[in-house]
Amino acid sequence: MTVFATTRLPRPDGSPAPEWPLPLNQRNHCDGRELLTGLEPATIPLCIFDPQYRGLLDKMRYGNEGVSRGQRRSGLLQMSEETIGEFIAGISAALIPSGHLFLWIDKFHLCTGVGPWIAQWGLEVVDLVTWNKDRLGMGYRTRRVGEYLLILQKPPKRAKGVWQRHDIPDVVTEKVERIGNVHPKPVNLQARLIEAVTDPGDVVLDPAAGSYSVMTAAHQVGRQFLGCDIAAGS
Ligand SMILES: C[S@@+](CC[C@H](N)C(=O)[O-])C[C@H]1O[C@@H](n2cnc3c(N)ncnc32)[C@H](O)[C@@H]1O
Repeated sequence: MTVFATTRLPRPDGSPAPEWPLPLNQRNHCDGRELLTGLEPATIPLCIFDPQYRGLLDKMRYGNEGVSRGQRRSGLLQMSEETIGEFIAGISAALIPSGHLFLWIDKFHLCTGVGPWIAQWGLEVVDLVTWNKDRLGMGYRTRRVGEYLLILQKPPKRAKGVWQRHDIPDVVTEKVERIGNVHPKPVNLQARLIEAVTDPGDVVLDPAAGSYSVMTAAHQVGRQFLGCDIAAGS
């Protein structure tokens, strides 16, 4: 099967563009798993997924959060490991061959791995990008400045003809303002990475969009966006 990005539009088999379950290029309010269930298989070249992890504190018992910060965090809609697994199953089905999932992970998953989520779907780790937030975060032992973006690819694994930008370092500094409880991810970094693996006009998916930084990034480089968030007002 031809999977090179440059031959994706129009679809190689000449079939019409997919019917998207939600309007493109806008904020949609629903559970991301509903969006994923409604997607035609193998229609998405790139998904960027940033789960609301709950695992870090539960698992590491850092004991580093004061009462007010803990209360703020508990107001967010956190995802269990099982829920994240359900998301990744849906994302994997929606990706085209050689399509990518860029998965934001916390330090705990960086160290312990995401094997249980990806092994059964055939996704492979092909790279890791570290985001230096250039801002000292919380931490009882060390103070956090880094976040991690795992670059996963659906088979067949290949870079030539699929990864089209070769100027992206694996550690990138970008400062971002917080919006309420949401910690937006860096727009410029995500835009460069979107350009690396998609063509102009392609649809980029984010099923838990928060502040919609992925939509902003996609539009910045002439791509379309499909996504939602379960929280009203996101
Ligand atoms: C870490 S935030 C995403 C931040 C986003 N990447 C950004 O740059 O702003 C995770 C988001 O997942 C949303 N969320 C939690 N459960 C969800 C679900 N079942 N479906 C869709 N969104 C969900 C939360 O409301 C939160 O906005």
